[in-house]
Amino acid sequence: MAAVAQNSSFVKALAENPTLKSIPSQFTFATDSKGSQSDSLPIIDFSLLTSPNPDQRCRVLADLDSACREWGFFILVNHGIPEKLLKAIIASSLEFFELPEEEKRRYEAKSASDPIKSGSGSLINTANQRVHLWRDFVKSYVHPEFNCPTEPHALRETLQEFSGKTRPVFRKLMHAIGENLGLEQGFVDEALKLDSCFQLYAANYYPPCPEPDQAIGIPAHTDHGLLTFLIHNGVAGLQIQHNGEWFDTFSPQNAILVNNADHLEILSNGRYKSVRHRAVVNTEATRISVVMANGAAPEAVVAPAPALVEKDGRPFYRPMKFIEYVETMLSNRLLGKSNLDCIKIQDE
Ligand code: SIN
Ligand code: FE2
Repeated sequence: MAAVAQNSSFVKALAENPTLKSIPSQFTFATDSKGSQSDSLPIIDFSLLTSPNPDQRCRVLADLDSACREWGFFILVNHGIPEKLLKAIIASSLEFFELPEEEKRRYEAKSASDPIKSGSGSLINTANQRVHLWRDFVKSYVHPEFNCPTEPHALRETLQEFSGKTRPVFRKLMHAIGENLGLEQGFVDEALKLDSCFQLYAANYYPPCPEPDQAIGIPAHTDHGLLTFLIHNGVAGLQIQHNGEWFDTFSPQNAILVNNADHLEILSNGRYKSVRHRAVVNTEATRISVVMANGAAPEAVVAPAPALVEKDGRPFYRPMKFIEYVETMLSNRLLGKSNLDCIKIQDE
């Protein structure tokens, strides 16, 4: 089992110190965190995927295809997940971060395969220095096996419901994506074993930061899995990279932000790229984000779809067991190192 960095303290406690006027030097992360604005971020109306009107359905499929192809990101509306549940999962996640440190420390990661983890986290940069991130987190594997911290009490039921309600939305999107890629009906379910799809819940707590331009919540990365779902407490901070430029995202009330993740890039043989994104911080308000990473079954071996390999003449990625990919990624603390690069088949 791979070892991961021990977390020395929680950023929440540090940020609550009223005398804190600048960030401790180990948090320094030099980057230009300004994002551009775009009013053409794709918005997908989920309810139209089941529209009885064929023109409407065709249009939303085409919009979904271009969102996945061009942005690797879209804002999902009318998904049917009750607003009350979205609010409840944010509230329970916040309650976790408000627990006494001793309770939160019970889940400090010992190994990448621990099903529940909590801490703040750090990475090693190219100069071999450890950089601490301006965020605390809690993560747990919630499907096919359900794991959840015991406190706060309300989290278990809310998380179980959230996982249960996000899975069918994820699967319906994957069916639409399969259709857009020209894959046979049923292929996506079978190849990825979606009945046992992997889901990882992660909540992030980004306290106000006295020097937001000098620190980072989460640096640029791509996600494991097929599609990542993200909601937050109304405080912006997620940026995505598009044609080399960083864009701020926005999130209408009750929307879910969705991004392509690595296994969608692999499955599509590179058609739908896994989008690079990052979380930036601010001086004013605490930001909470709740992420549901949706993947293939842990045991599924994910490879480019044979129908696409045939079209392209060759696969561009090597097959790998899903859970191995996830655990390699979770144990990798090197900044900018992507698992995707390791399994990409280079030109001969
Ligand atoms: C993440 O990429 O895991 C979280 C990003 C965010 O909090 O917006
Ligand atoms: Fe991410």
